[in-house]
Amino acid sequence: MAEISSETRFLHAVEMGLGAWQWGDRLIWQYGNGYDDEDLQRAFQASLHEGVRFVDTAEVYGSGRSERLLGKFIKETDQPILVATKFFPYPWRFTKGSLVRALKASLERLGMESVDLYQSHWVSLTMSNDLLMEGLAECVKKGMTRTVGVSNFGQTRMLAAYSALARHNVPLASNQVHYSLLNRSAEKNGVLARCKELGIRLIAYSPLEQGLLTGKYNPSKPPAGARGGQYARLLPKIQPLIKLMTAIGQDHGGKSNAQVALNWVIYKGALPIPGAKNESQAQQNTGALGWKLTDEQVAKLDEASDLILGE
Ligand SMILES: NC(=O)c1ccc[n+]([C@@H]2O[C@H](COP(=O)([O-])OP(=O)(O)OC[C@H]3O[C@@H](n4cnc5c(N)ncnc54)[C@H](OP(=O)(O)O)[C@@H]3O)[C@@H](O)[C@H]2O)c1
Repeated sequence: MAEISSETRFLHAVEMGLGAWQWGDRLIWQYGNGYDDEDLQRAFQASLHEGVRFVDTAEVYGSGRSERLLGKFIKETDQPILVATKFFPYPWRFTKGSLVRALKASLERLGMESVDLYQSHWVSLTMSNDLLMEGLAECVKKGMTRTVGVSNFGQTRMLAAYSALARHNVPLASNQVHYSLLNRSAEKNGVLARCKELGIRLIAYSPLEQGLLTGKYNPSKPPAGARGGQYARLLPKIQPLIKLMTAIGQDHGGKSNAQVALNWVIYKGALPIPGAKNESQAQQNTGALGWKLTDEQVAKLDEASDLILGE
């Protein structure tokens, strides 16, 4: 394992975060239908109360509403928060200055002078990797963010990003990728191992597989909206895994499926950022902290997940 740079060390101390895609998003999450700003503020406060104070947002979430809500919630608490947001590489953004401009707009929505982590949401189709990294490095140099990261980067691009940033004396703090018991790509394609080797924090998005791993959905009760179609093929296959998770949770004094799913991500050495729509979900998710699955239980979960994923 590489030496972790002093600038990015704080991120390695964060065990779990809170995802804020749900904050304002109607298309996938049906914001405003079944939950509102008050629910989200309570989810935020419940997380803080249990020591989860790293929040992941993005300029595109709810077209800026997620950042605005986070800014408002931060203003109304006296506790310190760690904020991560993201640059969206729209094809019409092709200069390094576009990163500085986008971050400036994010900071205005957040009501902050700087964030803790600024990530490129995806690879850019119109900007070279080097230029994208130059833009991120510039954001650090201007004091607008403490650290920078990437998201949805495969191993080759991640290594290129790591080297490009190093030329500007900026460490690559993180790579945020899809990682859960129902999506093990990061484990299988070497990204997780490389991250550990280089001291890059792997941030796991959709760690509950957008709610599937909580066990509350099944083929006769699929999630509403776009998720229903997206998971139509996977949903009928997951029951054996859900049953195993429930049994393992029982062995730990009645931990829920969500808590087992998140504890599994932590066991693997990644930082899960589950989204929550309300206080009770947020509260429950923080119960993934403070205990540990055994090696044997993780091996069983891996095996059950492999059977579903066809490995
Ligand atoms: N970088 C990227 O490209 C990218 C992509 C996706 C996500 N992300 C980030 O990762 C975060 C998390 O991923 P995600 O939101 O896609 O999925 P997730 O965390 O796997 O699932 C969140 C959803 O699961 C349900 N849920 C959460 N906790 C629950 C509990 N304790 N009991 C029952 N249901 C519960 C809620 O939806 P329902 O109640 O509606 O089921 C919630 O909205 C996002 O908020 C975002 O910050 C980043």
